Amino acid sequence: MNRRFMNFTGKRNQQRGFSALRTLILAGLLCGLPIAAVNAETLAISCGAVGQELQLCKEGTEAWAKHTGNQVKVISTPNSATERLALYQQILAAQSPEIDVFQIDIIWPGILANHFIDLAPHIDAATIGEHFPAIVANNTVKGKLVAMPWFTDAGVLYYRQDLLDKYHAKPPETWSELTATAQRIQDAERAAGNPRLQGFVFQAKGYEGLTCDALEWVDSFGGGTLVGAGGKASINNPQAVAALKMAAGWIGTIAPEGVLNYDEEESRGVFQSGNAVFMRNWPYAWALANATDSPVRGKVGVIALPRGGEGGKHSGVLGGWNLAVSRYSAHPELAADLVRYLTSRAEQKRRAIAGSYNPTIPALYKDADVLAAAPFFGQLYPTFADAVARPSRQTGAKYNRVSADFYNAVRDVLSGQRQAGEALAGLQRRLDRLSRGGRW
Ligand code: GLC
Repeated sequence: MNRRFMNFTGKRNQQRGFSALRTLILAGLLCGLPIAAVNAETLAISCGAVGQELQLCKEGTEAWAKHTGNQVKVISTPNSATERLALYQQILAAQSPEIDVFQIDIIWPGILANHFIDLAPHIDAATIGEHFPAIVANNTVKGKLVAMPWFTDAGVLYYRQDLLDKYHAKPPETWSELTATAQRIQDAERAAGNPRLQGFVFQAKGYEGLTCDALEWVDSFGGGTLVGAGGKASINNPQAVAALKMAAGWIGTIAPEGVLNYDEEESRGVFQSGNAVFMRNWPYAWALANATDSPVRGKVGVIALPRGGEGGKHSGVLGGWNLAVSRYSAHPELAADLVRYLTSRAEQKRRAIAGSYNPTIPALYKDADVLAAAPFFGQLYPTFADAVARPSRQTGAKYNRVSADFYNAVRDVLSGQRQAGEALAGLQRRLDRLSRGGRW
């Protein structure tokens, strides 16, 4: 079946390519066009569609196309990182040349490395060296630069400054403060005739986003990040249990039951329409919350996510997206040039200003135009520079299994099906088996 798909698409592309070429040559002969236009190619890139991603991707690729005389087809992909990975795995397993450039998650280089070319020979070392070294290291698998950093992410807390002012509340420093403030404002607003107001919205659907949120709760309590320094699973610990108990207590109190089906965009929908005091999300929500048509424009603050209990710390999970060139692309050179352009300083600056997508080039965090558009890029620089990694490097190709086991266990706890202690003990056993005691 895969083979049939591959042949079919390969042939169709070729035919399309030939007839396009014929048309171009004819047009070129008739109009005396320069030869470069005759060699024009069409590349395809898969782009995310969360927030303004698709629009910005189209604008960026159109600029490159205009500049080089080629064309780029932008293919939109599912919002859920979990679904997107499944789709990519299907396309790549079929060795399909349909997509030349893939937008890949920071946690996928270990899973998908074999399907991408090494970008290092195509992009000069000084350009690569402009990016956060930790991201470049993350994207390097067995000495091969699998993807160029495009934008980075870290979980942050959004709050409604106007509501906090109205109730003389401060932005929360700890999760217990957040819980108390959210409950107080939610109760008061509902009593005053605002029945739709929620205290706190976040991502608790069963997918990669819940892994991010839950890891932040656990790590902020000092419960680690699933895998310990020696490689062994480390999730069955009292701090992790305390963190999940706390989160389970939010469902149906300060968060609606429906949060169990929320991803990033659903959370943003509630917050941006004015119906939540607090929201956990990624930086992209800032530009949209402050857009001219946003009901909460000018009323929003952003801070680091709260600390856990005694001895806890602020913890924002590292996210972000990178651009990789498929090994099955018919135009790897050209595709690498598109990647070079899209990940360049100028393009990252444009995306930071228009969409608050975090640059992967540290110098841009000192750029006056970027800071004017997203002041929290400067204020929260440590949140972005020291964001907490998910254990994708340690677990390599098994990361997706690890993450799914984790978010499923967390979901059982949030939905009240299992106690936190029991769920985490079971998860620990599964991860021990999967890792053969720490040898992933
Ligand atoms: C964001 C992050 C990505 C993460 C995803 C989870 O897109 O950048 O790294 O996996 O959210 O929903």
